Order: sequence, then C-alpha cells, then structure tokens
Amino acid sequence: MSVAKKEYKRVTVKSLVEMKKNGEKISMLTAYDYTMAKIVDGAGTDVILVGDSASNVMAGHETTLPITLDQMIYHASSVVRAIDRSLVVVDLPFGSYQSDPKEALRSAIRIMKESGGHAVKLEGGKEIKESIKRILNAGIPVMGHLGLTPQSIYKFGTYTVRAKEEQEADQLKEDALMLERIGCFAIVLEKIPAKLAQEVAQSVSIPVIGIGAGNGVDGQVLVLHDMIGMTHEFNPRFLRRYMNLFEDMSKAIAQYGEDVKSSDFPNDNEQY
Ligand code: KIV
Repeated sequence: MSVAKKEYKRVTVKSLVEMKKNGEKISMLTAYDYTMAKIVDGAGTDVILVGDSASNVMAGHETTLPITLDQMIYHASSVVRAIDRSLVVVDLPFGSYQSDPKEALRSAIRIMKESGGHAVKLEGGKEIKESIKRILNAGIPVMGHLGLTPQSIYKFGTYTVRAKEEQEADQLKEDALMLERIGCFAIVLEKIPAKLAQEVAQSVSIPVIGIGAGNGVDGQVLVLHDMIGMTHEFNPRFLRRYMNLFEDMSKAIAQYGEDVKSSDFPNDNEQY
C-alpha cells in the first residue's frame, strides 16, 4: 500500500511518532559539519544524527570512546547552523553520562544550550534508566540506543551481531518497553536479527530506527561517510553504498595534482 506523505516543514519528535502511526518510514543519516549537514538537510532527510561515530570518521580513532563532550558540542553546533528542516539528535559521548544521573543531566544540558541540538541519544537500557529519566524530566527529548552499542565495545569484544541468544534478546525487548514507558521518543536498534527488530518495532508505539536491523522497523540510519562511499575499508553486510566518493575524489585530486605540475591549471580563464 502506498502511503500519502505528509509534508513536515520542520521535523519534530512529534512528527516522528506521527510518521510511525501513518506508516511513513523515517530517514536518518549522520553529519558532523556544516557543509555536509546542509546537503543532508536539503535532500529531505528527516533526522540528522551528530553521532559519536565522529570519533572514527572525523578524528580517525579506532573506537567511539575518545570523543569528548566539548568535541561533540563543536560538531553539533556546526550541524545546527546548517539546518532548515531536519531534527538534530546529538550523541552523549562515552564518559559524559555513565557515572550518575546528575552528570548525565549536566552533559545533556550543555549539548542543548551550547549546540542548539534538538534531542540527545544515549546508549544502553536498564543500567542508565535513572539518567534518562533525569534528562527527560528537564524537558530534553531522548532517543534510546540498544543492540550493538559501540561505547561498550570492550565489554562485547567484537562488532558482531548482538542479541542472537534468547537471554540477550529478552533483555533487549524489556529495555525497549522500558525506554518507551519512561518517555523516550524513539529507539535506535543496531546490528540485531531482523526478526527481533521487527518484533520490537511492533511492540512499541514510538519509532524504532534500525542500522543493520532489517526492514521491519520504522526507519533506517546509516553513517553518511559510509553511505556515500567516502570510507572504503568498512564493509558490513547492512551497508548500501550509494556512491563511490573515495574513488571519485581520489581521481579528482590526482588529476588536480597533475594539472598543477603540468601548469595546465590555472588556465587563462581561471585567473585575473
Ligand atoms: O554514532 C553513530 O553514528 C550512531 C549510529 C551508528 C546509530 O550511533
């Protein structure tokens, strides 16, 4: 059945819930800077995630753990300056919310005040319930994140599919219901079996956005630099590359180098 798409002048947390109700899928991509965010917003993406994947993509770290709250605020404020329509969700980085709910609230307030982002995302379930409640009580919208939670990579040991075993799947289902109950406006499910993700999406009324979680959820998120093929060494099964910018940019840059060396650039029309 094709779904009549309602136009949203600005996407809000309420519009996302409405999209789920209307059966309209939600598109979400990461962005970490002004120029990319302008393109992502202009192309009609519903949600822009200023992900802590900036730690890998922008800074070249092996994990998401090193990125700081100040760095996240810098990236998020650059993104917010570019936005006309998308909802901007900002990751709370590792170490900014795990120790206690007061610290979590302080970090979330800094993100909202200093970057102008519209919501925050935190990784985890019952272990961070009190922190999420504290942030929600301050009127800050929260997106949950379950399944593969990269900030816990050293606990998991690998980036393989999570919740394949019944016990972990049951805990994930419980956590999703809890996140909905306490007031999260959406949940990201990362790298879990498609069947489980669909079951979770059907069990809650808030949108469930998947990455490596199949097509039975309410929306999809990808890391922009992977999706446009700027990165090329990361090749998980769930990733669809829409461009090969790594190749195109490498060719263009090599050509520029040749043109400079051969004095082809600049030509008569490219000077004053
Ligand atoms: O940081 C990030 O980019 C994310 C997405 C992978 C969901 O959390």
